[in-house]
This record gives sequence, structure tokens and C-alpha cells, in this order.
Amino acid sequence: MAQEGKKPRMYVLGLETSCDETAVGIVDEQRHILANRVATQLTEHKPYGGVVPEIAARAHLDRLDDLIHGALDDAKISLVDLAGIAATCGPGLIGGVMVGAMMGKSMAAVAKKPFIAVNHLEAHALTARLTNDVAFPYLLLLISGGHCQLLLVKGVGDYRRLGTTIDDAVGECFDKGAKLLGLGYPGGPALEEAAKKGDGRAFDLPRPLRGRAGCDFSFSGLKTGLRQVTETKNPIPVADLAASLQTAIADILFDRTQNALAMLAEENESITALVVAGGVAANQTIRRSLAALAATHCIPCVVPPPALCTDNGVMVAWAGLERLGLGLTDSFDFASRPRWPLDSKATDRA
Ligand code: KG4
Ligand code: ZN
Repeated sequence: MAQEGKKPRMYVLGLETSCDETAVGIVDEQRHILANRVATQLTEHKPYGGVVPEIAARAHLDRLDDLIHGALDDAKISLVDLAGIAATCGPGLIGGVMVGAMMGKSMAAVAKKPFIAVNHLEAHALTARLTNDVAFPYLLLLISGGHCQLLLVKGVGDYRRLGTTIDDAVGECFDKGAKLLGLGYPGGPALEEAAKKGDGRAFDLPRPLRGRAGCDFSFSGLKTGLRQVTETKNPIPVADLAASLQTAIADILFDRTQNALAMLAEENESITALVVAGGVAANQTIRRSLAALAATHCIPCVVPPPALCTDNGVMVAWAGLERLGLGLTDSFDFASRPRWPLDSKATDRA
């Protein structure tokens, strides 16, 4: 419902289908979240202990319609009130990405609205600007099920990657660790819960690359270290091992982020904040440790609320709105892509 007598508000709808969450969000330029509908596919993937791409794509297709209608109802607007339609076009599981991208393009074509192809990582990267109005440039630690990266966020579409994982993503380490400890899927929240009853110093698990130069991450040695301990213990001390794994992960993230902050300071690159995004940012132990690190550098540590840290449509809508505000829209032949590094050049969007 457009407001009478006032400048019409700029509403953008965002679609997220790149992994196992089907999500639709609507935001406006005044940072209001008007709709945030998320349908998780947990029950579909649970029997397999991980996301099955074909099942994910089919489930997105089944649910997207209802979620879009629900989101428009929540926002009390209709398609014609939208200023633009954004969809995650990568990186991610390509079948699912295509479902969301095709839906977004079709809606934009029917309603004659601009279409914005959103990079999923950019959506995570810009969420802190929606929730906390963080100014550029800032350091971003992106920690999710598929990614573990440190990025200097200089502006919309302007990123410098400082480091990335050389093997597993940090969320994968939580998920695989939880599986080894019999904690089920998804592992992150289950492992955090189990860790509450354990001692984080009980087992001295490996911290790969800690103390070494650079900002890259590695988790495979930690996973192996955990497996070796589980093989020698009967019964497995689940709580202590969960807590020790969580402490080791927090230590690794602290060490690598500390290096990035030192590197930027050396280059006289001043930043406004340390922003932590992605599903793993919901973890309280990790948040506390990174907040302490940011404090030593006299910058705030900004972490969006948990519901906006895990995959959602609001972050896609917001990234779309930021792009739209800069006149950055995309054509309907924009190709979905399974891989799409955030620091690729603007020309790579074609
Ligand atoms: O960002 P996200 O929802 O999806 C991806 O783009 O990957 O992140 C999902 C990941 C999963 O690996 C999940 O186990 C992890 O985030 N996660 C957590 C917590 N909540 C979710 N990891 C640690 N502690 C948590 N509380
Ligand atoms: Zn994500």
C-alpha cells in the first residue's frame, strides 16, 4: 500500500534459494524489514546428514510461490508497489540458484520492474548496513556453511579478499564435528548447545595456521584431530569435546582476524568496524572472542541478529536495494553461477 501524499517508499523484494533455506524478504530504504519469510528444508535433508542438491532445488520450487505471497501480505503491498526485485544468482547449489533467479526475473518481467542479480556473499556482507548502518570501509569476517573469508568491504561491489579457507569452511567444521560426536544435523547449533556442559580446555585440539603469517584459514587438521580423539575414547566425552572444538575454532578465527587487523593497520587503512556475518556468527563463544579482539583495536564488533546471520531473503532484498540505489541493475540474461567470488571485477557481472 503506497502512502498517500508522501514520496513513495522504495520497497525491494529479495529471493534466496542458494542452499537449503527458501526465503523471501522485503525491505525499504529507511531500513524497515517488512517481511522475512524463511522455510527451512531441515527435515528433507536430515536423513542424509547434509544438503542434497536435487532435493533442495525441488523444495525451493515447491515453496517459493507461497512464501512470496506471504511476504507481500506481511508487507501489505502488491507487486506493483515494488521498486525492484532481487534474487541470489550465486554462488551456491546451481539448481536452487536457478529456481530463485528464474522466479525473480519472471516477476520483474511481468511487473516491469528492475531486476537485481545478487551475489549471496555480498548479501551477507551488506547486512550490517541494514541492521547497524555501518559505514564503509569495514573488515568483514564471513563465516558460514560454505565460506570462511576475511574481506575488506570498501563499497557496494568493491571488495578486497584478505584471506580464505584453504580446505573446509568453518560451518562445515562445526557440522562434521557434530556428526562425529553424534550430535545430528545441522551441527553448529547442536554443538554449541552440547558445549555448554563441557570444558573448552579439556582437549588441546589442533589450531592449523595459528601464529603463522597471513589471513587464510584451515580446518581439516582440526577435524582430523577431533576424529583421532573420538577413536581412542569410549564412551566419547561429548560435552568436553564439543566445547574443545568450539574453543579451537574460536581461537583460529581470533588469530586470523587479528592478522587482518594488523595488516590493515600497517597499510594505514582505517576501518569503521569489524563485522561478522554468516550462519556461524550466531555462535556466542565466537562472538564474545571477536568482540574482545575488536575492542583492543578500538572499533565496534557488529554482528547482525542471528535470524539475519543465517540465510534469509531480507539480506538479498537489502543488497538489491543498495545496488538499485546506485543504478546497478541487471538484464534478464544474467547467468546463474555456482561460483562467484566476491572480489571479482564489476565487469565479471556480465
Ligand atoms: O550462512 P548459513 O545459514 O548458510 C550458508 O550460506 O552456508 O550458515 C550455515 C552454517 C551451518 O554450517 C551451521 O552449522 C552454522 O552455520 N551455524 C552455527 C550456528 N548456527 C548455525 N555454527 C556454530 N554455532 C551456531 N550457533
Ligand atoms: Zn549464507
